[in-house]
Amino acid sequence: MITLGIEGTAHTLSFGIIQDEKILVNISDQYIPETGGIHPREAVEHHTKCFKPLLIEALKKANLSMKNIDLIAFSQGPGLGPCLRSVAVAARSLSQLLSKDLVGVNHCLAHIEIGRKEIGNHIDPIVLYVSGGNSMVTGFEEGRYRIFGETLDIPIGNLLDTFARHVGLQHPGGPKVEKLAKNGKNFIKLPYVVKGMDLSYSGLLTAANNKFTEGANLNDLCYSLQEVTFSMLTEITERALAHTEKDSILLTGGVAANKRLQEMLKSISEEHNVNFYVVSPKLAGDNGAMIAWTGILQYQHGMKLNLAETKIKAKWRLDEIEIPWITK
Ligand SMILES: Nc1ncnc2c1ncn2[C@@H]1O[C@H](COP(=O)(O)OP(=O)(O)O)[C@@H](O)[C@H]1O
Ligand SMILES: [Mg+2]
Repeated sequence: MITLGIEGTAHTLSFGIIQDEKILVNISDQYIPETGGIHPREAVEHHTKCFKPLLIEALKKANLSMKNIDLIAFSQGPGLGPCLRSVAVAARSLSQLLSKDLVGVNHCLAHIEIGRKEIGNHIDPIVLYVSGGNSMVTGFEEGRYRIFGETLDIPIGNLLDTFARHVGLQHPGGPKVEKLAKNGKNFIKLPYVVKGMDLSYSGLLTAANNKFTEGANLNDLCYSLQEVTFSMLTEITERALAHTEKDSILLTGGVAANKRLQEMLKSISEEHNVNFYVVSPKLAGDNGAMIAWTGILQYQHGMKLNLAETKIKAKWRLDEIEIPWITK
């Protein structure tokens, strides 16, 4: 079976093609705003403009044509409404026109399942999923991924990107903050806000922005920002791990690429004597292969959509979804 996965929840349009379990191609084109954050209308323009040429390139790389595709999977939510809608319309049209089955995939679930595909589907980890749009600690319990802890306001990637913009660095900010943090020497105190199993970042962002405006050294500030924000994530991950007694941690999502965050999680995994896995860089950010792969899992369990069910779900939560492919 050959599956085409289409990702387009926010800034990235991406196509992945998977034959059985093998990723044949995974290509993306990212919208990078000239100024400010993601402008939904501009992102849609980007996706609409890139859709045809990028799809043609993906098929060409896989040496296939659309008629070879058996299943189409698309990112149905959560994400920016206009972006989701543009991708849903395209996926629906392709599926109707070519009489292909259609599956709608939750973007957060896809970030997790592509990580599990890499480490082995028999592994049942505590997952720290961190990206521009999400920050959560989750794990499989009784038929679903339960959210043990999450951000109460802005996600970590969004914090890093917004801070970076404030200090004059270009989008995406996460990698730039990571680079400057390496030269930081002095720790600058910033608010550490963990509430139960959840965390809050918006006050911390304001505090970091203010420190910069007051003249703090940027390297020191990037270093401190990483130390504080990543410690908060590590703390709630460690508590979920202790509570569930799972035997591994999986780090996934765009921010998973960060070496300092990896280091902190590795250190708690060593303390608890569990395995630590991190999604590979090429599958960490938004990509079509993760949508294709999760679409395959869903399709194998009868979760294909009829046309009326293909509406976008901009606020779709991970813990609403039944996960029949994990049994324990
Ligand atoms: N090395 C890094 N360190 C910290 N953050 C990073 C790094 N690389 C990417 N990011 C962040 O990852 C986020 C993008 O994640 P991704 O999963 O692709 O998108 P989305 O949040 O839309 O799902 C951005 O906020 C970006 O700054
Ligand atoms: Mg993402």
